[in-house]
Amino acid sequence: MQVTAKTSTATSLVKMEKIYKHFGGVVALQDVDFDLNYNEIVGLVGDNGAGKSTLIKILSGALTPDDGKIYFEGNEVEISNPKIAKELGIETVYQDLALVENLDVASNLFLGREFKKGVLGKLFGVIDKKRTYSEAEKVMRNLKIHIDSVKTIVQNLSGGQRQAVAIGKTVYLSPKVIIMDEPTAAIGVKERKVILDLILSLKEKGISVIFISHNIPEVFSVADRIVVLNRGLKVGDEKASNLTVDDVVKLLVGS
Ligand SMILES: Nc1ncnc2c1ncn2[C@@H]1O[C@H](COP(=O)(O)OP(=O)(O)O)[C@@H](O)[C@H]1O
Ligand SMILES: [Mg+2]
Repeated sequence: MQVTAKTSTATSLVKMEKIYKHFGGVVALQDVDFDLNYNEIVGLVGDNGAGKSTLIKILSGALTPDDGKIYFEGNEVEISNPKIAKELGIETVYQDLALVENLDVASNLFLGREFKKGVLGKLFGVIDKKRTYSEAEKVMRNLKIHIDSVKTIVQNLSGGQRQAVAIGKTVYLSPKVIIMDEPTAAIGVKERKVILDLILSLKEKGISVIFISHNIPEVFSVADRIVVLNRGLKVGDEKASNLTVDDVVKLLVGS
């Protein structure tokens, strides 16, 4: 049987090759290779403007690269919009979270994919509240997210709880990859631990994670591998166990 070069090296879940992206005169990414393996948490770090968000936006279909190739499970893919990324199993937890403030936790979890009541419910859009709440409790329990009640209005949640709900919402879609762009940026120190534990538990569920953070020790606490960007160039890509915080900081600020 003929095996094409495309699929013969399918060891990684995501393989981005020689990615370029510029915005006018600004070179946001230059010749960047980025891999994400099965069952892996990659910490993506870099100073402000290094190109982190641009890189993950290309993977999530929010931006298209000027040049470069993307392989998903060994097959070359063109992720020209967010819908394609989702279909592949790539979900993104956005910084602004996209939760509806005046709805409760359960309604937020299943927003746009509500459980309907029986045949008439499907016709007239009557939501099965009981099922919504019981499924929501399952999601929360499964992820060990502690919220007094899934009937709590999002407005009344802490930053960390919101972040947890947003992550729960994506996990329910059974993705293969979850991208998190600075998920701990807006939350207190105490709650960060909860989110970091949640990230580790995603890996146990077989989900690979790309985790962007400014907090280097925090990255070390979850990442298997750390990738460093500096002004659009990849300047580091190493197993976390082979690196120190100092090493990473040097790569971050090096010019
Ligand atoms: N939509 C855009 N239009 C113009 N410039 C952009 C846009 N998005 C990002 N940039 C520029 O590209 C560079 C990389 O940005 P970004 O990927 O957001 O960096 P990071 O997430 O590492 O802080 C920066 O110089 C930024 O100003
Ligand atoms: Mg960014």
